Amino acid sequence: MSESFDKNVIYLDNAATSWPKPEAVYRAVDYAMRYSGNASRSGHRLALEADRLLYQTRKMLASFFNVGDPAQVVFTKNCTEALNVALKGVVKEGDHVVTTSMEHNSVLRPLSKLQKSGVEVTVVQANVEGYVAPEQIAEAIRYNTKLIAVIHASNVVGTIMPIADIGKVAHDHGALFLVDAAQTAGTLPVDMEECFIDLLCVPGHKGLMGPSGTGVLMVGKGVEVESLIEGGTGSLSESVEQPSFMPDRLESGTLNVPGIAGLKAGLEFITEVGQSTIRQHEQKLTKLLLDGLSELDNVLVYGPKDPNRTVGVVSAVVRGMDPAQVSALLDREYGIATRPGLHCAPLAHKSIGSFETGTVRFSVGYFNTEEEIEKAVQAMKHIAKQLD
Ligand SMILES: Cc1ncc(COP(=O)(O)O)c(C=O)c1O
Repeated sequence: MSESFDKNVIYLDNAATSWPKPEAVYRAVDYAMRYSGNASRSGHRLALEADRLLYQTRKMLASFFNVGDPAQVVFTKNCTEALNVALKGVVKEGDHVVTTSMEHNSVLRPLSKLQKSGVEVTVVQANVEGYVAPEQIAEAIRYNTKLIAVIHASNVVGTIMPIADIGKVAHDHGALFLVDAAQTAGTLPVDMEECFIDLLCVPGHKGLMGPSGTGVLMVGKGVEVESLIEGGTGSLSESVEQPSFMPDRLESGTLNVPGIAGLKAGLEFITEVGQSTIRQHEQKLTKLLLDGLSELDNVLVYGPKDPNRTVGVVSAVVRGMDPAQVSALLDREYGIATRPGLHCAPLAHKSIGSFETGTVRFSVGYFNTEEEIEKAVQAMKHIAKQLD
């Protein structure tokens, strides 16, 4: 850490990665680095410690998201990798995919690549609030629709999608349902069975409070996903073929054991505090932010103004100022960390009307306080006043 790092930073970039982490997460990473070996590779104590840790974490994730079988829980290095494995592992030439304009590039770019190999893609347009209705998804379905891929909540404006209803549409039409829960895992309950989700992709390092380099793909019962990467699994070493059983089929190479130890500690923290407590706290802060910013002259807030319809992500611009300039001022003059620009979601910004310069994104987390939000609103007030 650089000497000049100011620990009093007001961190409002939790949608990128959550910070700080619960103390137990730092401790768990440290412990795992000191006292675990490579999982599934040997029978000595350090290797078994890693095996135990992986199994316990899979079990926790399976229960957290109602996956059913812990073997269907696959560790990845982030949500992007989970999404790539899921999309490329189930969609083939001649298949049709329905998705939305609110998706992150980690869905849009793999789909764009798949399009080049003969996959058809329909992008359903969200309204100006970033919302897509289940009926719009139903209308886009064709005879060859293999998959419906939907973001749970927007990383630009926080809008929550009706995933249970969209899941029902997918189920009724015999299509697979993929949910990108990057912005909701750890904050909103996600039940794979109740929402008819076949493929659930989450990062470990955002709302689940784990370290960077962690992500998870959860695969519903009976859903066949082809591997993207083959290699050592520690199982069936006599064969040059990738094992067909889960999770080995989709998990090649040494796993991020310290990262997963941190993720487990993050899950334990969430379970202890309670997801609904975290949600309520973030909603209170989001309301303060939405109300405070909406009242300011020269500031335009995008997306729904009702925190019941969003997660803790708020996008705004100061009229006549580049969001990058505003975000730099917030950082340098006020010690407030935000993210400017297009947030890897160009079509989402087109939907809400903020393409090409984008917005300044404020994203709250469990460790933010009301006082910090008030300071952020005051800082925006000062910046916007410079224009008068
Ligand atoms: C909605 C959404 N999907 C996917 C991702 C990709 O997540 P990761 O950075 O873990 O690859 C992000 C990251 O910001 C996101 O907001």
